[in-house]
Amino acid sequence: MKFFVDTAEVEAIAELNELGMVDGVTTNPSLIMKSGRDIKEVTKEICDMVDGPVSAETVATDADGMIAEGRELAKIADNIAIKVPLTWAGLKACKVLTGEDRMVNVTLCFSANQALLAAKAGASFISPFIGRLDDVNLDGMDLIADIRAIYDNYGFGTEILAASIRSVNHMTEAAKIGADIATAPPGVIKKMAEHPLTDKGLDAFLKDWAATGQRIL
Ligand code: G3P
Repeated sequence: MKFFVDTAEVEAIAELNELGMVDGVTTNPSLIMKSGRDIKEVTKEICDMVDGPVSAETVATDADGMIAEGRELAKIADNIAIKVPLTWAGLKACKVLTGEDRMVNVTLCFSANQALLAAKAGASFISPFIGRLDDVNLDGMDLIADIRAIYDNYGFGTEILAASIRSVNHMTEAAKIGADIATAPPGVIKKMAEHPLTDKGLDAFLKDWAATGQRIL
């Protein structure tokens, strides 16, 4: 499973990138707001740092507006994936922009039928929002499993980008189901390294080592 980082915080991306943990980045208007940065400026910095796709989201609500904004965002760098919402207008924009050989990430997906339409419209990525489904007492992981089954049934090339990931368990479950990509906040990715038994075991080793009085260096 590829890891995308769901943030517009450049330092957090850089830290994970040094460890080879970053296969791409996703941003959205809320994350740009949170960063306090100019969208083009911060997106360019991220694109220069990361080899993989960097999603930048349009904000127009009509297809022509999304297409125009998408073309403008795509000028930032070759690795821009234009993000459009899963509305009828967004699907139209997806069809046009992918027809121009641009990567398109169709976002705000909450049903298998929406994902099926995005694949038909040629989306490069579909972003089902797990956490937000969980928020309304539905199971976000069921949606990932349904989309995986449907895409595999018909050999759609659209990559499943599990989004709105809030916990390390979401990462495990998305990987077990076979999501192509998971996009997660930096904190969730770092938390995947943690285990209380690792900490406990390390404490015990360090105490025993101290008792030997030896040094390695
Ligand atoms: O990848 C989409 C993500 O940014 C939304 O996450 O936690 O706001 O639902 P969240």
